[in-house]
Amino acid sequence: MSHVNVFDTTLRDGEQSAGVNLNKLEKIEIARQLERFGVDVMEAGFPASSQGEFEAVQHIARTIKGVSVAGLARAKKSDIDTAWEALKDGVEPRLHIFLATSPIHMTYKLKKTPEEVLQIAVETVAYAKQKFPHVEWSAEDATRTDVDFLVKVVEAVIDAGATVINIPDTVGYTTPEEYGKLFRHLRENVPNIDKVTLSAHCHDDLGMAVANSIAAIENGATQVEGTINGIGERAGNASLEEIAVALKIRQDQYPFTTNLNLKEIKRTSDIVSKLTGMAIPGNKAVVGKNAFAHESGIHQDGVLKEASTYEIITPEMVGVTSNSMVLGKHSGSHAFREKVQELGYRFSEAKMKEVFETFKQLTARKKEVTDEDLFTILMEAQLENVTVKKYELQAFQVHYGSANLPTATVALTTPEGSRKEHAGMGQGSVEAIYNTLESLVHEEIHLQDYQLSSIGKGRDALAEVHVKMTVNGTETSGRGTAQDVLEASANAFLNAVNRIFLTQQVDQQKKAQV
Ligand code: KIV
Ligand code: ZN
Repeated sequence: MSHVNVFDTTLRDGEQSAGVNLNKLEKIEIARQLERFGVDVMEAGFPASSQGEFEAVQHIARTIKGVSVAGLARAKKSDIDTAWEALKDGVEPRLHIFLATSPIHMTYKLKKTPEEVLQIAVETVAYAKQKFPHVEWSAEDATRTDVDFLVKVVEAVIDAGATVINIPDTVGYTTPEEYGKLFRHLRENVPNIDKVTLSAHCHDDLGMAVANSIAAIENGATQVEGTINGIGERAGNASLEEIAVALKIRQDQYPFTTNLNLKEIKRTSDIVSKLTGMAIPGNKAVVGKNAFAHESGIHQDGVLKEASTYEIITPEMVGVTSNSMVLGKHSGSHAFREKVQELGYRFSEAKMKEVFETFKQLTARKKEVTDEDLFTILMEAQLENVTVKKYELQAFQVHYGSANLPTATVALTTPEGSRKEHAGMGQGSVEAIYNTLESLVHEEIHLQDYQLSSIGKGRDALAEVHVKMTVNGTETSGRGTAQDVLEASANAFLNAVNRIFLTQQVDQQKKAQV
């Protein structure tokens, strides 16, 4: 069995998905889970892209000690310097530097000749190597690059100090056979290729990202890159959980091991979906809600007789449990604390009391509190930023009747600490609440998307709402959870507005530093 390193880019390429913007606290929450999942490298972001991104990458590099943290940079000295400042306190600081090598990118985007590109690549890798022990170099749009030029530039950047060579299928254009051949060709024709880790990075525009990644592994890739749930630019990246499970289930075909703990797949997938607001399609391989559901009578009969008739992956293998009741209204604080620890959370004494109170309130209204419910409460508590001033919902009331115009009365406290109340109308209950909230906050709001889902099953399941909106012209997203859908809707609205304060706080800190 050969070993394959796993490079996760959920926090960088994944975060480039349309409409996704994670703040620092959310990124660290995902980073902690990626560490538990067992990835070898996590790409935390692109430090030179904004102050908020710089701080998030720095925070992750300083916090995550079991995994090498990488940051992206263009082939520019200033990007490399910024990335070093963000990453230097990490355990194994790693730079991911990229430069396009395809004729189409060199001509139209970079407006440079191949010779110029080669020279920039070598110079910037050599510069990066003076700071970073690990330098990954990516030939952007490698699959549409002239192969002889690719061989030449790869050899040169290895001589300049690159320790990992990545061959991205940037536009999701390649096929398994073609991509596999490219890896074989590089292995056979780049004289110094055995000095480095050779990495595959695929996008899913033609729906072949996972198949392409596996073809690369079969043909000499020693690292595979991807994201959780396959999120990413356009159609997304190769889905890491699908690659991991395919390697496991088809060991007869793929004699490769990874350091991943497959039992963490479900939880990792849930956290990423919750925090990015990107819902997982029911039929998504490995982590979709229907991945283990058997609908037809013939299948159900077969599975009852012998699960392997129609089930090639067991739910337990990927951490899907029966989601039974974990704690109830009679559970004391001792049992609660143990469960909190088991789920991987640590809180101060005061915060623990507060979270226990929230749990108790939930048990008073919900018959069964499942792992999923508890996990939602704990994660929200962890993400609550106490230092940022914000709007807080105090109370609301909605009148709805099929013959009347829905009205909402809402009371909230403002970031300045005063209480405000207002009543408003809308064509539906949610619209009435949102119109009222809009007239209570100072910001100019445009709602762009609203999605409602339930956490787990049953009529008393928690409601979760994700919204996308612009607040004073800046795109943001918000998330709200409650037992009632209207309360969850109001929470999501205010969460989106409050996130803007967190961003503004970062910008103000930046001004203070200049
Ligand atoms: O897909 C791509 O080419 C990338 C590069 C930045 C490596 O994500
Ligand atoms: Zn990419």
